[in-house]
Amino acid sequence: MKKFTVALLYNLKQNAPHEREDAPWDAWNELDNEKTVAGIERALRAGGHQVIAMEGDAALPQKLQRYKVDIAFNTCEGHFGLSREAQIPALLDMLRVPYTGAGVMTLTVALDKPMSKRVMLFHHLPTPAFQTFITGEERIDSHLKYPLFVKPSREGSGIGITAKSVCRNARELREQVQFIVNSYRQPAIVEEYIEGREFTLGMLGNLPWNIKSNRSALAAQPSGCAQGRPSGNGRGAKSSQIPPTLRIFPPLEVDFSPCPPEEAGLYTSVIKGTLYDVPKYLCPAPISKALRAKLERHAAGAFAALECNDFARVDFRVRADTGEPWILEINPLAGLQERISDIVMAAEADGLDYAGLINGILDAALERYGMV
Ligand SMILES: Nc1ncnc2c1ncn2[C@@H]1O[C@H](COP(=O)(O)OP(=O)(O)OP(=O)(O)O)[C@@H](O)[C@H]1O
Ligand SMILES: [Mg+2]
Repeated sequence: MKKFTVALLYNLKQNAPHEREDAPWDAWNELDNEKTVAGIERALRAGGHQVIAMEGDAALPQKLQRYKVDIAFNTCEGHFGLSREAQIPALLDMLRVPYTGAGVMTLTVALDKPMSKRVMLFHHLPTPAFQTFITGEERIDSHLKYPLFVKPSREGSGIGITAKSVCRNARELREQVQFIVNSYRQPAIVEEYIEGREFTLGMLGNLPWNIKSNRSALAAQPSGCAQGRPSGNGRGAKSSQIPPTLRIFPPLEVDFSPCPPEEAGLYTSVIKGTLYDVPKYLCPAPISKALRAKLERHAAGAFAALECNDFARVDFRVRADTGEPWILEINPLAGLQERISDIVMAAEADGLDYAGLINGILDAALERYGMV
């Protein structure tokens, strides 16, 4: 196996520009801690690579010039602007440095929940009906059925999610929407609340037409995706269409029953940030083969629709009354903290240890760029 010089790029929580005195307590929860960076660095070194770790900031072009880097392992979430997760990838594209994970377009669209839901809906992927509130004063769409769920439109890690996110009437909804718009300074997304069990599916690899060595050989684009028509028939891709180049880890169920009742059975920022070892994580989730196949199809469908690279995670809820799965969101830059992050647990349950997962992401990128 060839060895590479890898720039490990991160945005540490402690280096975040804390500009607002009145920022909500969980505003910076998405950023990485030192343990995550140290874990990835160790894993890449165990893969035999040379690793240079650095903060992904505006000085990155100068810092990269000092080294002969073959590829970057990108974990940067960014700080400012509507496309903060895409800024480092944009710089890397400009500098012609290959990098792991999704590109600029995917990271920009996926950061914006309403926009990524529009893309999923175009591909007939099931995601709850929704409305975006920019000022908070907008008229509430009468087609939406209570209870409704309110979240910031451009966050992750459960930021802004509490028991108050579930709203049972217009008064509660208006109050929570105003809270999100004012505190998080961004539009709020309101969607139908899915009462039921929660699952997440991690994926590793790529779609065949994204792998450089396959490109010339492959006239077979997925029908519709490349041409701009929705693919499938409203039921997502057939499981036989999930390509062998994309490994889907077994569904991980997050069972909130051991959690404090004030967290309301939700994956809140408190649970993601501090009580992460309280829920029960069941992987493979105890579900029927038919449900598992459906989750896998939709996860792969979302990966394809958003044009992800190398790895991603798709979060679901399954409606208790109908048994049908609904996609809550896709995470093309899923958290990679050793032992703790959902995709790491799912990989382990599939027989892939942490070093295997991290080096698997790097290998997927190297293959995609035609570097191996
Ligand atoms: N429509 C919904 N119905 C029911 N629960 C929901 C809904 N949307 C979100 N949730 C709850 O809120 C949690 C966080 O929502 P979501 O995954 O959309 O946000 P996130 O902060 O981007 O998450 P991540 O940490 O995975 O990036 C979900 O895991 C789920 O528990
Ligand atoms: Mg989520």
